[in-house]
Amino acid sequence: MGKLEELKAKLNNLGREYAKIKTLRQEERKAFGEQINRQKAALLAQIKALEDAAEDAAVEPIDLTAPFGENTTPFTPASGTKHPLTTELDRVAEIYRQMGFNVIEARQLDDEFHMFDSLNFPKEHPARDGYDTFRTEEGFIPPAHTSTMQYRALTRFRDDLEKYGQIAVVVPGRVFRNEDVDATHEHTFYQCEGVFVSKDATLGQMLATWKNFFETYYGQKLNIKTQPGFFPFTEPSLEFQIEKPASLGGKGDGWLEMGGCGMIHPNVLKTAGIDPEVYKGFAWGGGIDRLVMLKYGINDVRYFESGKLDFLKEF
Ligand code: DAH
Repeated sequence: MGKLEELKAKLNNLGREYAKIKTLRQEERKAFGEQINRQKAALLAQIKALEDAAEDAAVEPIDLTAPFGENTTPFTPASGTKHPLTTELDRVAEIYRQMGFNVIEARQLDDEFHMFDSLNFPKEHPARDGYDTFRTEEGFIPPAHTSTMQYRALTRFRDDLEKYGQIAVVVPGRVFRNEDVDATHEHTFYQCEGVFVSKDATLGQMLATWKNFFETYYGQKLNIKTQPGFFPFTEPSLEFQIEKPASLGGKGDGWLEMGGCGMIHPNVLKTAGIDPEVYKGFAWGGGIDRLVMLKYGINDVRYFESGKLDFLKEF
C-alpha cells in the first residue's frame, strides 16, 4: 500500500473511533473528541501535501534557461520573409547601382534646413505649407519627401566632381505626410530620390535616366510624357508620366504620374558648395509604393503598412 492509501485508511478508521464516544463517560468525552479531531487534522494535512506533490510531479518542468532547441521552434526560418516594399526597394537600388549611382539611405527624422532652406524654399513662403509636413514638438520634421537628402548627397559626394567629373547618387527612403488616408494615400510611404551633377548635365539625360530605370524595373519598353511643374529646387521643373503598359493592365490610354524632376536650381548647388557657373545638375524623385502596386496589381496602398499577414504572405 502506498503512503497515500495508508493515510487514507487511517482517516477512515478514525471515523469509526468517533462512534466510541457514546460508550464513554460524560466527563471523558470532550478530551477524546478533541484528540480525534487533532489526529484527523494532521492526517488531512499530510494527505494534502502528498497530493500536491504528486500533482506538481505530473507537470513537466520548464527550463527557462534552455536555448531554442529541437523541441521548441516557435520561429521556423520559413515563417519570416522580407516585406514586399523592402524587396522592391532593394531592386530599385540595384538597378541604379548598375547604372553607376551611389546609393545612400534617407533619414526618418530631419529638420527645417534640409526640408526647406537647402532646397531653395523662400522663408515664410506658402510652398512650405504644400507638403503636409508633420513636426515634432521640438521642431524636427519627419521628411515629407526624399528631397531632404539632396543637400547631404551633394556635399557628401562633392569630391567626386574632382575625381570622376560627376556626382551620381540615389536615395531611397521612407517619407511621411499629414494626409487623410485612403486607397491611394498613406501617411507613411516610400520615395526614391536621384541627383546627378556634371559640367554638362542636360534635361535630356534626366529623362533618359528615369525612362531607362522604369523600363528596367518593368522589363519592357515604355512611353513617357512630361508636363511643366513647379518645385522650388528645380528650374525648369517637370512632372513625369509613364504610359500604363498593356501588360500591366493599361488600355493604351492611361498615363501614370510617377513624380517630379528637373534641373537642379543654382541656389541648391550654391548652398551645397558647388559652383553653378561651372556645374549643372538634374534631380528627380517619385513614389515607390505606386510603382510596386502597378507591378503586382495591388489596389490599396494601405495594405503595405497594415501588417496583414495574408497579404504579406503572397510575396
Ligand atoms: N520631392 C518632390 C515631391 O515629393 C518630387 C521631386 C520633384 C523630386 C522634383 C525632385 C525634383 O528631385 O527635382 O513631390
